[in-house]
Amino acid sequence: MKLGWVTATGVQGYDVDEPFALPALRDAGVDVDVVIWDDPDVRWESYDRVVLRSAWDYPEHLDRFVPWLDRVAAVTDLCNPAPMVRWNLDKHYLAELDEAGIPIPPTTFLEPGDIPVFPDGEFVVKPAVGAGSRNASSYGPEDRESAREHVTRLHGAGASVLVQPLLKSVVADGEWPLLFFGGVYSHAASKRVALPRAGTVEYLFAEETNVAYTADPEQIAVARQVVDLVTERFGTPVYARVDLVRDDDGKPCVLEVELIEPSLFLPEGPPESVGKLVKALRN
Ligand SMILES: Nc1ncnc2c1ncn2[C@@H]1O[C@H](COP(=O)(O)OP(=O)(O)O)[C@@H](O)[C@H]1O
Ligand SMILES: [Mg+2]
Repeated sequence: MKLGWVTATGVQGYDVDEPFALPALRDAGVDVDVVIWDDPDVRWESYDRVVLRSAWDYPEHLDRFVPWLDRVAAVTDLCNPAPMVRWNLDKHYLAELDEAGIPIPPTTFLEPGDIPVFPDGEFVVKPAVGAGSRNASSYGPEDRESAREHVTRLHGAGASVLVQPLLKSVVADGEWPLLFFGGVYSHAASKRVALPRAGTVEYLFAEETNVAYTADPEQIAVARQVVDLVTERFGTPVYARVDLVRDDDGKPCVLEVELIEPSLFLPEGPPESVGKLVKALRN
């Protein structure tokens, strides 16, 4: 099997899953090339499968990335599949989870042209299409004016915006990514992100602290609902990450679903998680 492992310019060495996944794939007899998604010299048709990994700069290049998905999917097996990736690009999918009865944080979508409205107390402003906390920020009641400017700036760039109350548990305990390979639950981790206050991340991603974590059955059940919904709509994801937080009543809810280029927390997962990923990628 020949596999294209997709990264982006300038991120080589930052993907901490690579030192686990690449040797394991090669040991399993998979011929892996690390390729840059917008390198014009890559022959995508020469791969049996192309797997989106550290293609972390796509939110800044959506106009090229979306057509690229279809071009690659036309000549090889892109994973995750293009329709699933397109659905996952935009956090409006949270409204669909909500409609399906899956818990999400209280969320207001502000479309370009909408007048910004903010909840009482502290809140978060983030773009509907985004990754790595870029262009996301928290605000207090005293910085509503800068929050309004933030929304105006995102709207000016044509972006839809999400506003959510700042969940206290995220500040205190962080979030919990749950990983599924081939639709089967693999492992979880605990992740803390240093989200800027009234300012935004200018680099590739906000600083993160990650450690191993054992998810409880209630968390696994919520994450599984998400993977089941995705599977029903688009087929089984080869890899899926569901980032859970706790709402102000302590109940798990879905902060985001990552089906495009999530870090897979292989350094924090049990050793067998690498084998589960390899199996899903070879399937
Ligand atoms: N409602 C919220 N309450 C508290 N923190 C939040 C909230 N929304 C986002 N954050 C923080 O901002 C970070 C980035 O938001 P997220 O929704 O994960 O977007 P992305 O990772 O796609 O940039 C999260 O990791 C979390 O630390
Ligand atoms: Mg996130």
